Amino acid sequence: MIDLLTVEKQFIESHIKVGGTVVDFTMGNGHDTLWLSNKVGKNGKVYAFDIQKAALESSEKLLSESGCPKNYTLILDSHANVENYVKEPICAGMFNLGYLPGSDKTVTTLRESTMKAVEAALRLLDSDGGLLIAVYPGHEEGTLEGNMLTEYFSTLDRRKICVSQLRIVNSPTSPFFFLVEKR
Ligand SMILES: C[S@@+](CC[C@H](N)C(=O)[O-])C[C@H]1O[C@@H](n2cnc3c(N)ncnc32)[C@H](O)[C@@H]1O
Repeated sequence: MIDLLTVEKQFIESHIKVGGTVVDFTMGNGHDTLWLSNKVGKNGKVYAFDIQKAALESSEKLLSESGCPKNYTLILDSHANVENYVKEPICAGMFNLGYLPGSDKTVTTLRESTMKAVEAALRLLDSDGGLLIAVYPGHEEGTLEGNMLTEYFSTLDRRKICVSQLRIVNSPTSPFFFLVEKR
């Protein structure tokens, strides 16, 4: 069966520019931050956010041991505050909502801050930029986040922003994602 999390990056890749600025809105253990760092290269810039100190520490370790360019800034703050740190347009942003597998499940992304962060991401997004948002409906808050985002994205003007959703329709609790593309 298709695992959407293994193919999701293919959908955002065309928006990532070498030398561009990108944001990992949910750093976790830094796997997406590392991928973004290599994609934008040494002249690019990656901002990564998490509210858990342990996430910053494990990401710092992963990144420094990986040999990737030193083009990243790891920020211990909510992604809702992204505009306090990122002052230039971004070509891409990634959200991997939910909680960190193997850690405290109560530290999960929440609708209120997710909404603020998504709105801020849309303001920061450059023309032709893209956001990838992975949602985990296998837990209650994940289902609610997915519903909230579906409702919100349905209201956006499709001449300015195109929002696609990829999900396994006969596996409703499997993760799915939104691809948000600015025109
Ligand atoms: C599914 S994990 C991300 C996995 C990560 N992309 C990776 O590659 O390892 C979700 C992360 O979001 C973080 N998080 C929860 N609320 C947050 C918030 N308001 N701002 C930023 N990060 C948040 C959690 O601490 C957790 O590490």
